[in-house]
Amino acid sequence: MATNRELYETAQKTFVPNYRQPPIILARGEGCRVWDVEGNEYLDFSGGIAVLSVGHAHPTLAKALADQAARLIHTSNLFFSDRAIELAAELTKRTGFDRVYFSNSGTEANEALIKLARRYHHTRGDARRVELVATHKSFHGRTMGAVSITGQAKYHEGFGPMLPGVRFVDYGDADALRAVVGPDTAAVFLEPIQAEGGIIVASNEYLREARRICDEAGALLFFDEVQTGYGRTGRFLAREWSGVMPDACSLAKGIGGGVPLGAMLITEKVAGALTTGTHGSTFGGNPLACAAGLAVLRIFDEEKLVENAETMGRYLGEKLAALVADASIPAAAERRGMGLLQGIRVDAAYDPMVAYQQLRSQRVLSAIAGGDVIRFAPALNVKRADVDQAVEQLAIALRSIPKK
Ligand SMILES: Cc1ncc(COP(=O)(O)O)c(C=O)c1O
Repeated sequence: MATNRELYETAQKTFVPNYRQPPIILARGEGCRVWDVEGNEYLDFSGGIAVLSVGHAHPTLAKALADQAARLIHTSNLFFSDRAIELAAELTKRTGFDRVYFSNSGTEANEALIKLARRYHHTRGDARRVELVATHKSFHGRTMGAVSITGQAKYHEGFGPMLPGVRFVDYGDADALRAVVGPDTAAVFLEPIQAEGGIIVASNEYLREARRICDEAGALLFFDEVQTGYGRTGRFLAREWSGVMPDACSLAKGIGGGVPLGAMLITEKVAGALTTGTHGSTFGGNPLACAAGLAVLRIFDEEKLVENAETMGRYLGEKLAALVADASIPAAAERRGMGLLQGIRVDAAYDPMVAYQQLRSQRVLSAIAGGDVIRFAPALNVKRADVDQAVEQLAIALRSIPKK
């Protein structure tokens, strides 16, 4: 059997070098644990970057996929499938949105939102409204439209020109938003929590004010819930904490429990914008992915995973806060986030990458956010003992790293 090192060498010669994976080749998972090809065990608190809503290898999800694979995998958008209709109906029931468009990823769901924004005003005869307002430090994906509304220069470098008509404002600053939203604005894009940007949580008041600003100006308000949706914050959608109903939102990550699937959810108000032929995807919402989506929701209900995310999220928050308060861990500067999307900002005197790598060498997987935050986004069925282990190992890692 090939070793981690042998497979890593093959990968380095074979793949486009656009990622920076470590020489750990994962082969198997169960719940919050993964094993590499050599049988080494890791506690997975990266959660596949907030994707593994029901954990690795959940038997209900595995069986639903196997059954569906033996029944019908693909129809294309030429036909509905029973599974897609069932999942769309479940999503509208659980979210308060009226209609669903399925994509394969978060970036594609956001592309659909961008097109929806412009097309909505076009169909109303308001050709002037093409501007998209987004925020500094946002992250909406890597395709050209989504990257154009991503407020981080490093993702734009060398790929210009970006989509025209995009304006950025500081996140959390309602006055700044009010100053740019006007008769040219098609839509405002907000993440309820800027996850990739460093786990920065918007106040409920900011989100409510954004709704008021958009309504007064005749602009649409869209939430990107790709990372915050699907129970991650302890509510099915993070928007529920503020009570704000955007005109549409994007979902992906947790929706398929690891099977590629995304969705744009819209209200009836904007339903006339994307008429027949205006947008589409060959694979989006195929029966296999939608069977996964239905299994994920079944597991959510049977195992009360949104409730578990809230309870375990509160516990994780307390543990991380204690770590920040511990004077013997000066590298832990600040706790950020909510629910099962939380992290520790590493003090500027220390190198966050060293902390991240040290934690991994202790067999705990995490993800970096905003360049200096060690992010935890474990499966929503995470257990108390897993949280204890992750935070204990994080404390050891942060204690052990040297100053820059
Ligand atoms: C808020 C947000 N939007 C969009 C995306 C892009 O999703 P995907 O990688 O599935 O295209 C991400 C991915 O991290 C995200 O966090």
